[in-house]
Amino acid sequence: MSRARIIIDRDFTIGGVPRRIFGSFVEHMGRCVYTGIYEPGHAEADENGFRQDVMKLVKELGATVVRYPGGNFVSGYNWEDGVGPVESRPRRLDGAWHTLETNAFGLHEFVDWSRQSGVEIMEAINLGTRGVDAARELVEYANHPGGTFLSDLRKKNGHADPFNIKLWCLGNELDGPWQIGHKTADEYGRLAQEAAKAMRFVDPDLELVACGSSGSGMTTFGSWEQTVLAHAYDEVDYVSLHAYYQEDDGDAASFLASAVDMDYFIDSVVATADAVRAKGKHKKHINLSFDEWNVWYQRRLDSEDQPDQVSKAGWREHPRVIEDAYNVTDAVVVGTLLNSLLRHGDRVKIANQAQLVNVIAPIMSEENGPAWRQTIFYPFARMAELAKGQILHTKVESDRYENARFGDTDLVDVSSTWDEENGKVAFFLANRGLEEAANVEVLLRGFDNARVTRAEVLQIPEGHSRFTTNNLQIGEHVGLITLKDVKAAGHELKFTLPALSWAVVEIRVAKS
Ligand code: AHR
Repeated sequence: MSRARIIIDRDFTIGGVPRRIFGSFVEHMGRCVYTGIYEPGHAEADENGFRQDVMKLVKELGATVVRYPGGNFVSGYNWEDGVGPVESRPRRLDGAWHTLETNAFGLHEFVDWSRQSGVEIMEAINLGTRGVDAARELVEYANHPGGTFLSDLRKKNGHADPFNIKLWCLGNELDGPWQIGHKTADEYGRLAQEAAKAMRFVDPDLELVACGSSGSGMTTFGSWEQTVLAHAYDEVDYVSLHAYYQEDDGDAASFLASAVDMDYFIDSVVATADAVRAKGKHKKHINLSFDEWNVWYQRRLDSEDQPDQVSKAGWREHPRVIEDAYNVTDAVVVGTLLNSLLRHGDRVKIANQAQLVNVIAPIMSEENGPAWRQTIFYPFARMAELAKGQILHTKVESDRYENARFGDTDLVDVSSTWDEENGKVAFFLANRGLEEAANVEVLLRGFDNARVTRAEVLQIPEGHSRFTTNNLQIGEHVGLITLKDVKAAGHELKFTLPALSWAVVEIRVAKS
């Protein structure tokens, strides 16, 4: 049995929980839109074609903001193709995912879907094949009240009131050679700056995200952020980060420590942004938008839903693309990545798990069939529900373990929040120990009278292995169960985390 000692203090806070870190992502990719959120004719679809079984799960997941329409897709997308009468919208080749795009779903549909789902929109513009003009026109179409050609066109197309989209991404992954319209940092920095300026001339209230690096492993990582921000510091509010993790060659120990890389990535981008701030004598801070993150098995190259195989199969409408099936290990890693984001909530103000449905997603749906939760659904849903109020500095003294990629790493990973409004403290915990349970003791400073209100754990179900997924076909169901024997008294809390588990413990406390 390993041991961990956790100390929190009511006065030691990192800042308010930025609720936008519980964001998600809908790209025109694979079956995320078509047969994911949208499937006219499905038994559960409403009159708009929005699948209500999927929407119910989206609401249960608790996503606060959804990025749209890409991703790599957006870098070749004409937003005009997705507005106006559906029958006259053009069918196009989407080169990013080798797919036939019908454009049956576009901006108006996404706005309606977002309103029904109760999520904020984060709209990405195309800075791959297009530029300043298309960007400002899209803002005028979406946000201008009326009396101009484009705002009146929106009205004619069915939305009299402006969409009022506040949050915008200035392109996607333009540092990546795979991106349509890939650019150097100088080319992109200047373009982002000019696009931002022109968009703000139309609507001064926008919040704008510049593209950072597609991953901390990019050769341009660091210098890209520096150059882009040197150009666009005054015009943008956030810089983006993207990261995907996977288990390599059965090295679960290193995979479970992936959040160490996420911590490093975030700290490095904060340092770079602040260095540009100092050099340019800027007053404001640039915050971080971690607008793509998840577990993604990019090396399952031979399976049919991998991009290479998909393109060999020719141009098809909404083929299956990267439909990873997640196991318990993946869910534990997702829990630790969420912890990393929350612990950095003073600078990471937006984060989007990629993606929402079917494509590396917490929610799966079958065409003419059911929708269900993957294992990674649970840590996200519980954190989105319970992480409210203030983020607490969480001091952890945990036994450690050795792994090939990150060396010595804490076995127990934790983040915690204090919601003064409902008088509750919530702990989000992962035990990275593959074999050993962990004994956890928590000391609460500035709090007293602790009583447990919720204790749940996701662990390997009896008779299964860490590779067990939620598979409707073979009837395997991984879900949260009660974490037993959580002892709370005064300002102390004790419990045991099973080997390889993610857990949430919520307590009601009095201030002391
Ligand atoms: O989320 C899948 C893809 O990953 C996105 O389209 C792209 O931005 C990233 O490389």
